[in-house]
Amino acid sequence: MHMHKFEKAWLIFGIGSLLVFLTVLGVSAFYLGNQPPSCLATIDPEKVDKTAPFNEPGLKKVEGKDWDYELVFVASAFSYSPASVEVPYGAKVKIIATTKDVVHGFEVAGSNINMMLEPGYISEHITTFDKAGEYLIVCNEYCGVGHHMMSSKIEVVK
Ligand code: CUA
Repeated sequence: MHMHKFEKAWLIFGIGSLLVFLTVLGVSAFYLGNQPPSCLATIDPEKVDKTAPFNEPGLKKVEGKDWDYELVFVASAFSYSPASVEVPYGAKVKIIATTKDVVHGFEVAGSNINMMLEPGYISEHITTFDKAGEYLIVCNEYCGVGHHMMSSKIEVVK
């Protein structure tokens, strides 16, 4: 069968791209263990204040886990608790967050942390803060008239 050389090149490019994509996906899923966030962690949104760990928002040192600290946030219209928090430089932190009312966002500006906080569900993200400074947390899900005022901050201190 005769094939034009451009057609051949495109076929090779197409199949090559597909193989690269599947390899990246496979390594990410099976070697690095990346998975879509599960919806298994649930909470009664009306009892957030009485449910651990959300009864004590803020930073807590933990032992015997893959991370050094747990950073608990509760979002509600139109604020986060805590309103600001200090995190030691270089610490591996698991951020655990939920909302008491409507859907809120949880974006840490200047990082790749960007979660949606849904009532009844717990959102988690493990990260290491390896740059000192102030990180602004903003809500990026429209949640009402005070949406634009909703913020918190993480201060990474040496
Ligand atoms: Cu909370 Cu927008």
